[in-house]
Amino acid sequence: MRGRMVQDAHEAGRPNAALRKGTAGLIRFENVGLRYDMGPEVLRDLTFEIRSRSFQFLTGPSGAGKTSLLRMLFLALRPTRGLITVLGQDASTLKRTDLPAIRRRIGVVFQDFRLLDHLTTYENVALPLRVRGKEEASYRQDVIDLIKWVGLGDRMDASPVVLSGGEKQRAAIARALIDQPDILLADEPTGNVDPPLARRLLRLFMELNRTGTAVVIATHDLSLMDQVEARRLILANGRLDIYD
Ligand SMILES: Nc1ncnc2c1ncn2[C@@H]1O[C@H](COP(=O)(O)OP(=O)(O)OP(=O)(O)O)[C@@H](O)[C@H]1O
Ligand SMILES: [Mg+2]
Repeated sequence: MRGRMVQDAHEAGRPNAALRKGTAGLIRFENVGLRYDMGPEVLRDLTFEIRSRSFQFLTGPSGAGKTSLLRMLFLALRPTRGLITVLGQDASTLKRTDLPAIRRRIGVVFQDFRLLDHLTTYENVALPLRVRGKEEASYRQDVIDLIKWVGLGDRMDASPVVLSGGEKQRAAIARALIDQPDILLADEPTGNVDPPLARRLLRLFMELNRTGTAVVIATHDLSLMDQVEARRLILANGRLDIYD
C-alpha cells in the first residue's frame, strides 16, 4: 500500500505531482461565509488553507458547522460569500464537467458511510475505480490489499448490511482511499467505534499522511485529539480559530 502510493506520487505526467512534492495549498478559503436558505450565517469569515501533506483536526460542538465546512471543501456545497480555491482554481468558476476530476483528488468518509447495500465490501471499495471505467484486472489486487490494510480481509465478500458499525466505517475509509486522493476528509470517522479501534484508525490516518496525503478529521472526540500533536481547526459560534 505505502509502496504503491509513494511510487505513484513520482509518476511523471500526473497533474498533481508537483503538489505532492511541495507543501503547496491544496484548498484555500478566503472570507468564506455560509447560510442555509434565509437563515442566519452558520459559518462566517473563514480564512484558512489546507496544505499538501498536512494533518489537522476539525472540531467544535455538535451543530458548529463541521459537516458544512467539509461539504464546502468537497465542493458539494457553495459558500454564500467569499472565495474557495481548489488546486489553484477558483471554485466558483469551475464548470460542472470539471468537478469529477477535482473530486477524484479528494477522498471523503461521510458521517453516515453511504455504502451501497447491494454490493460487497470489495465492490463498494472498488466502485470509484469501476465508475471511472478502469479494468478490474488493473486494480483488483490494490483493492484487496487496501481492504486488508484496514483490517477487513475476512469481510471482503460481505454486504454492508451484515457489517458492524466499525467495520462499515473502515469499508468507507477504504473506499475514500482507493483512488489515492491528495486530501482525505473524514467526518467523525471514529464515531462508531470503541477506543482501541479509534486509536487504530487514527494510526491508519497518520500512516496515510506519512505517504503524502493531507488529512482533515472532523471530530469532537477529545481523547482522540489528545493522542497526537496536530493542527486544530476549532469552530465555535460560526467562526474558526486555528491552533498550529
Ligand atoms: N441542509 C441544511 N439546511 C438547513 N440548515 C442546515 C443544513 N445542514 C446543516 N444545517 C445547520 O447548520 C448548522 C451546522 O450544521 P453541521 O451539520 O454542519 O454541524 P456539525 O458541526 O457537523 O454537527 P455534528 O457534530 O452534530 O455533526 C446547524 O445549525 C444545522 O442545523
Ligand atoms: Mg457533522
